Amino acid sequence: ARLAIMISGVGTNMAALLYASRDPDCPYEVVLVASNNPDAQGLKLAEAEGVATFSHAHKGLSREEHDTTMHAALTEAKADYVALAGYMRILSDEFVSKWAERMVNIHPSLLPKYKGLDTHQRAIDAGDSHGGCSVHLVTPELDDGPVLDQTPVAILPDDDVHSLTERVKIAEYQLYARTLSDYIARENDPDWIQQKVDGIAL
Ligand code: GRF
Repeated sequence: ARLAIMISGVGTNMAALLYASRDPDCPYEVVLVASNNPDAQGLKLAEAEGVATFSHAHKGLSREEHDTTMHAALTEAKADYVALAGYMRILSDEFVSKWAERMVNIHPSLLPKYKGLDTHQRAIDAGDSHGGCSVHLVTPELDDGPVLDQTPVAILPDDDVHSLTERVKIAEYQLYARTLSDYIARENDPDWIQQKVDGIAL
């Protein structure tokens, strides 16, 4: 399958997905890295690795206008699936519906806990024993789509946002590549999503 990855920043999850695709058994190839931020650091890595890139600043455009531009780039690249990897802009309902069941996101919490921002600080403040990360299908409501898989990560007594972020990211890189590969390889199994969702004790 042809995968496009959308980023806004450093793009370490993008890198993890890209390097996982070097495995001959990986069911996807990365055909485009797209960004709403022309200065996103991850674009430079994608270019250096020979992956096509596209960027278009969202400043001055409505959400719908910007998403139309992004959608055109994804279509041009003949992407079958889209992986959001630190894409820090809320998507229009129209864009989300165009990619329904073909767009996934990684979120740094054990969803449904801590949707939105500052997930690690919120987990620390709440005294949680574990933070973690979740891969979910993207639906119009933010961080709300069916969770396909997640990895709990222990919070240590002297953790701060920085140390917990670093540890969760180690888990993110593995979870994202594995879950996305499983999702793409599910082929025409109509029960796959439901089985995954049911398998997660929320
Ligand atoms: C990750 O923590 C991811 O879970 C969140 O945004 C961050 C992106 O980091 N959605 P990076 O750009 O992949 O390093």
